[in-house]
Amino acid sequence: MTITPVIREALPTDIEQLLAIERRVFTDPWTRSQIEFELLKQPVALNLVACMNEDVIGYLLSYLVVDELHLNNLAVDNDFQKQGVAAGLMQEMFNRLEATAVKHCYLEVAVTNSGAIAFYRRWGFDQVAIRKNYYHTGEDALVMVKGL
Ligand SMILES: CC(C)(COP(=O)(O)OP(=O)(O)OC[C@H]1O[C@@H](n2cnc3c(N)ncnc32)[C@H](O)[C@@H]1OP(=O)(O)O)[C@@H](O)C(=O)NCCC(=O)NCCS
Repeated sequence: MTITPVIREALPTDIEQLLAIERRVFTDPWTRSQIEFELLKQPVALNLVACMNEDVIGYLLSYLVVDELHLNNLAVDNDFQKQGVAAGLMQEMFNRLEATAVKHCYLEVAVTNSGAIAFYRRWGFDQVAIRKNYYHTGEDALVMVKGL
C-alpha cells in the first residue's frame, strides 16, 4: 500500500517529533544537538518532513555545498515504512534541486543497512567508496552518489 503524506520544509517546531522517530528507528540515533544544528543553524539546509494528519512520520535532512547535495539523514517511522514515504521525500528533494546548480548527491549508509542500500540503489545511487570506521560504533559506511 502506498500513502500520500504532505511533504513540507522542516520547522523548528518539528524537532521533538524528529527526535522521537530518530530514537525509534536507529540503534545509534542522532543526538538532540545534531538535529537542532541541522534544523536551526545549518545555513544551506534542505530539510523536509512527511506528515499525516499534521504528525511527522518521516524526514530527510540534507545540505548543499556549491554543486553537491549531501543527504545527511533519512528516516520513516516504523509503522509507515514500505508505503512510499521515503520515495515521496526523495522525489520532493529532486524536484527542488532542479532549480539549483546541484550536479551530484552524496550520502553515507552503514554497510549492514541492506534495506536503505536497496532503497538508494532504486533511486539511482551507486557505491563509489567505503569509509572505514565511519560510525562511532566502528561500523563502515558505503559512500553512494547519484549524478543529476
Ligand atoms: C530506508 C527507509 C528510509 C525507506 O523508507 P520507506 O518509506 O520504507 O521506503 P519506500 O516505501 O519509499 O520505498 C520502498 C522501497 O525501498 C526499498 N526498501 C526499503 N526498505 C527496504 C528493506 N527493508 N529491504 C529491502 N528493500 C527495502 C525497496 O526497493 C522498496 O521497494 P519495494 O517495497 O517495492 O520492494 C526506511 O526503511 C527507514 O527509515 N529505515 C530506518 C532508518 C534508516 O536506515 N535510514 C537510512 C539511513 S542512511
